[in-house]
Amino acid sequence: MINAHRIGQNSIMERRFSVLPFLVGAVLLGGCTPSEPELPDTTPVVEDAMVLIPETATLERVGELIMDPMADSIHPDPRMAEMIRLGFQISQDPQTYASEFVGNDLTCGNCHLNAGQRNRALPLLGVAATFPQYRRRDDRLVSLEDRIAGCFKRSMNGTVPPYDHPVMLALDAYLNWLSEGFAMGERPSWLGQNELPVESRIPIEALDVDRGEDLYNLHCAPCHGLDGQGINLILAKPGPLWGPMSWNDGAGAARVWKLAGYVKYAMPLTAPGTLTDEEAQLISAYVNSHERPAYPDKESDFPGGNRPADAVYDTLVFPVHPLMRGDGGRP
Ligand code: HEC
Ligand code: HEC
Repeated sequence: MINAHRIGQNSIMERRFSVLPFLVGAVLLGGCTPSEPELPDTTPVVEDAMVLIPETATLERVGELIMDPMADSIHPDPRMAEMIRLGFQISQDPQTYASEFVGNDLTCGNCHLNAGQRNRALPLLGVAATFPQYRRRDDRLVSLEDRIAGCFKRSMNGTVPPYDHPVMLALDAYLNWLSEGFAMGERPSWLGQNELPVESRIPIEALDVDRGEDLYNLHCAPCHGLDGQGINLILAKPGPLWGPMSWNDGAGAARVWKLAGYVKYAMPLTAPGTLTDEEAQLISAYVNSHERPAYPDKESDFPGGNRPADAVYDTLVFPVHPLMRGDGGRP
């Protein structure tokens, strides 16, 4: 059982790191909320975040990769290598490589930092091996393609590429390449780590948007702009945090606690991890007090009930947006 984590034959992982497998029976999903299980608690967990860019890395390391798909000989089959590279390029620049499916100015890499290779910034390393999986939002078994589709519809405010379209296949290829050497069905310990502990969650109505604005202007505006649209930092350009070119209101990031779990551990890129849980929530409340595109099918989410209490744009949870200010959120 302990050896369930298998290192693949031509795995890059094998050459660069030794990933130590651990089976952690009881403790699952790390900081993930026990009230929101996304996986059955029988999934073994792979420990070792050494294979990722550390969560403390600052702005100058945004371009760094642990596994570089542009390097030589990433795959013995040149057609596969080409698709893996295309998937990586799509994730970094979907406006160029997948424009017909993208409806905003975000890239996958804006949120999944270092192209999904950074700890505590929604890493995608090893993710492919955890699918298919049950998810509460869908209340059914979802595939990796379904999950990518979800980010297109919501985070990218776009449309879903057909599952046999080169865009979907290439992303599939890149994500599967990032999972080479991981055993099917094993869950790396670094997944699900962008969650605030349940006990530090502040009720949405108690979050003071004005305080959030002050904290945002202090900690975030230097890179994201007072208008939230992102300043070109040369090394990287953050995506819009609100407004018509940002994620839509059905995205995970449109939930205040979920966004706070990201902001707390991945931002600010000057000193990641230095905000308190409260500050991360106040700032996330301010970010999600603004208008953003509407996801048309929110009512169909969570068909099994138990809608998340931080989904501030969901009229089935909050008939009136609890944080938006009289002016409809300042652009
Ligand atoms: C606005 C930020 C944002 C953008 C942009 C974004 N995602 Fe995500 N993505 C998320 C969040 C938040 C999650 C949920 C993590 C969780 O459930 O805890 C997620 C989850 C995922 C997962 C599942 C990860 C897991 O741990 O199970 C995959 C795969 C994924 N995204 C792929 C993509 C791809 C491909 C793109 C670009 C087409 C993309 N994402 C764009 C925020 C984003
Ligand atoms: C030193 C500059 C810097 C600071 C300060 C900073 N960020 Fe970022 N942030 C970035 C960069 C750069 C990206 C995109 C990284 C990439 O594409 O590789 C990013 C991405 C994000 C994302 C992903 C979605 C998007 O729109 O790009 C969110 C959310 C975010 N930052 C929130 C915050 C918040 C909230 C703060 C303040 C607590 C903050 N950031 C402070 C540079 C910064």
